[in-house]
Amino acid sequence: MTLRQAAKVVQKRSYAPYSKFRVGAAIKTDSGAIYLGCNVENVAYPEGTCAEAGAIAAMVAAGETEIAEVYVIADGLTPVTPCGGCRQKLAEFSHGEVIVTMGTVENDEEVRTRLSDLLPGAFGINHMIKND
Ligand code: THU
Repeated sequence: MTLRQAAKVVQKRSYAPYSKFRVGAAIKTDSGAIYLGCNVENVAYPEGTCAEAGAIAAMVAAGETEIAEVYVIADGLTPVTPCGGCRQKLAEFSHGEVIVTMGTVENDEEVRTRLSDLLPGAFGINHMIKND
């Protein structure tokens, strides 16, 4: 199964009764394993979680922390792009060269980009160095 196919399967399981915008994310790690997540909304709107966050949680729960590749897919007419918060979450477990492919279930259009192009100047541990 390709990463796109895996993302499409989990996108269909999305729980998005409020926005009606279903998102699926598939993360492949350096081990070759694939972890999936979908957005899970809540009647208290800010409590909802993004697809990428779900996939990251599944990856970490399985004992993995090294993202090799990401695919995100949603309902829109054009390929979905990860929100700002998800870019930072992905950066925690990725090096800048990790490829993020964005797609839509509507057609075969895809956008492929490096995470470092999606989030230049990511906040990192290097910014936390201080004099005591
Ligand atoms: N959403 C994601 O799951 N990932 C993103 O990167 C963009 C936004 C979800 C959150 C919410 O459930 C719906 O899409 C509309 O914002």
